[in-house]
Formats: sequence, C-alpha cells, structure tokens
Amino acid sequence: MHISPSLLAADTTHLASTACYLERLGADSLHLDVMDGHYVKNLAFGPQVVKDLRNVVSLPLHVHLEVDNPLECLELFHETDLVIAQEDTCQDMALFIDRAKTLDLRCGIGVNYDRPLERIIPFIDTLDMVVLLAVLPGFGGQAFNPLVLEKVHTLQNIPGKRKEGLLIAVDGGINSENISEVKAAGFNTVIIGSGILRNGESYASKSVIRHRWKMLCKLLYSVKQLE
Ligand code: DX5
Ligand code: ZN
Repeated sequence: MHISPSLLAADTTHLASTACYLERLGADSLHLDVMDGHYVKNLAFGPQVVKDLRNVVSLPLHVHLEVDNPLECLELFHETDLVIAQEDTCQDMALFIDRAKTLDLRCGIGVNYDRPLERIIPFIDTLDMVVLLAVLPGFGGQAFNPLVLEKVHTLQNIPGKRKEGLLIAVDGGINSENISEVKAAGFNTVIIGSGILRNGESYASKSVIRHRWKMLCKLLYSVKQLE
C-alpha cells in the first residue's frame, strides 16, 4: 500500500519540518493540492512551495491540480514527479497526458465520486495514477463518501493492459476507521490529510502524527495478512 500524506492539512508555518517528519515515518510520496479559487472556492499551494519542498525531501511529490485549466499551469510544476489533473477540467486529456510526458512527469487523473469513469477509459493504459475522490474537491476534513468503493470495482473491470504499478488512489476523508475498507475494496494508494495531521480544528502534534501513522500501518498490515 502506497501512503501519500496530503499537506493541505498541515500547519503551513511548519511545512518543511512536517514534510521531513512524514518522510522519516515512511511516507511513499507527498500529496500537494494546487487550488486556483475558480475550480474550487479555495486557494492552495503554488509552484514556489512545491519547489522549496523539493529541496528538503527526496520523496516523490504528487501535485493535484484542482484548477480550471490544468494544461495552462502544467509547466510550472515540471520539477515534481507526478501531476494529477481533474477529468472534469481536462478538456483535451490526450494533450494533457502527452504534455506531461514531454516534461518527463508521471501523470494521473482524478475523478470525483459523483462523476462517471467513461472519460478516462481510453487512457487507462497510459496513466500512472487514477485518483478517485471520496469528497468534492476544495477542502480537507470532509466526510468520506462510500460511492468510491463501488467505483474502484468499475475501474478494475475496465479492459486494457494497465501499466505495471498503476496507483489506484482514494483521496478525501480517510482515517483509521475506513482505511481497511478502502484497501479491501481494491485501492493500492491512500491520500490522507486530516486523518493524520489534524485534531479537529487544530494541528496534530508530532507524537499524535506518529501514533496515527503506526495505527494506519498496523491496520493496513493486518488486512494484508488476510489476503
Ligand atoms: C481535496 C483534496 C484532498 C484533501 C484530502 O480537495 O484533493 O487531497 O487534501 O484531505 P482529507 O484527508 O483531510 O480529506
Ligand atoms: Zn488532492
């Protein structure tokens, strides 16, 4: 299981130390939401933050473009490892994927829980990641919508020769109560923000983060044992 903490839930005054701490705990990548205030009614990380983080961690950085025109800002994130565009904003998906490859970036597409998977079907063989959102984009800390559990089955039944190592990720509302369920449903990647980095309205301390991390690993491991 690939665990990708979402820094949207982090204390931004301690972003670098949080990123380093998550790397030490064993995170597989870091998830960075980019928001433009148009596609979603929120603003979040821009290219400079991503660039600065690149200098403090060696983990892969996954940039989630929750913006109106992902193609337009793709190049700003050329120093990252993987870019994710939302299918409902990606008018020319083939062009987006192609442009990402040209920039030597791995590529993912995000699909909201209330949207069909149809548009990604023709591209399933070329993608490195599919993100099924269990919340509507825009904010951390929302409740998990179980519709993604059915959607992951539909995704797995799409014919085609997937890339080896395709990341099938769930994003939004993940915590210790539902992580076993998402793994059992077929996800191999979890994007988790508030579930590890927040205590309701306040930020979690390092000891709480460590405790939660251990708990998540324990839950994921015990599910693995059942396979
Ligand atoms: C939602 C973002 C998610 C968010 C997840 O717009 O795409 O990545 O950070 O946060 P939690 O885990 O708090 O729901
Ligand atoms: Zn995200």
